[in-house]
Amino acid sequence: ILVETRFPEDNSVVGGGVGVISLHRPKALNALCDALFDDLIHAVRAFDGDDDIGCIVITGSGKAFAAGADISEMSKREFADVYKKNMFSQWADITKVSKPIIAAINGFALGGGCELAMMCDILLAGSKAQFGQPEINLGVIPGAGGTQRLIRAVGKSKAMEMCLTGNRISAQEALDIGLVSKVIETEFLLEEAVKMGFSIADKGSVSVRMCKEAVNAAEEMTLAEGLRFERRLFHALFATKDQKEVELKGVRLKISKVPEV
Ligand code: CAA
Repeated sequence: ILVETRFPEDNSVVGGGVGVISLHRPKALNALCDALFDDLIHAVRAFDGDDDIGCIVITGSGKAFAAGADISEMSKREFADVYKKNMFSQWADITKVSKPIIAAINGFALGGGCELAMMCDILLAGSKAQFGQPEINLGVIPGAGGTQRLIRAVGKSKAMEMCLTGNRISAQEALDIGLVSKVIETEFLLEEAVKMGFSIADKGSVSVRMCKEAVNAAEEMTLAEGLRFERRLFHALFATKDQKEVELKGVRLKISKVPEV
């Protein structure tokens, strides 16, 4: 078993549950061999299609989130082979999932591991996490989004530095440059990620998905296109039940009864 899926014990609310996926290939520091990635995509798709789940958490195990693509698998491949199979193109399926994905990065997130984390929507780092794009040391470059997503996340100079030197950065540095949104003591990382997952899953399922879609669209669109897209989604949400009710201090109210402020 290369990927373990489970539900936290308090997953009781319909639609408000969290699905946890742990990468489990300890002997190779969760190196993302083809079989592991197939299992991961399968698990993510299953949670995406499960009405009881509102948010997904992906984490690693042991001292690694994932130490990259599998180097021994890669070493046997030739240009024609990887080109014809469009190697790593299928990894992008992670980004096609409509529910939010939180990456709980417990340890090494290197190469494809860092790229997998960046395909997720919220990146939480454990205090012992380390990030890097060391592909340059293997005579290649990042091949699953590292050069493209890193520059969008941290800007050109830092992205260049990480991709050209292959040097690793700490969780704290990842926070300082905006690659992750929080650093959490490793022992509480998964618990905190699941808690955050619950708080997201508790919200309107359509608005959560549209929110994810709108934020991610900002990486693909001009500002004018993005603002128009955001406004259209905003308008569409007026057709949902969630927009007609709000919860104030634990009491569910019809929006018409909310006092004006
Ligand atoms: N692929 C395959 N096996 C890997 C691996 C990887 N990416 N990373 C680690 N392993 C294996 C090691 O070969 C080792 O196996 P054995 O015990 O059988 O020798 C085991 O995991 C433990 O690794 P180490 O003994 O090296 O552990 P360490 O604590 O001393 O070092 C590390 C940890 C710094 C992460 C080191 O293992 C390392 O540098 N790994 C390679 C990281 C890397 O270069 N990743 C990029 C891969 S290319 C890529 O990802 C392309 C892309 O864009 C998608």
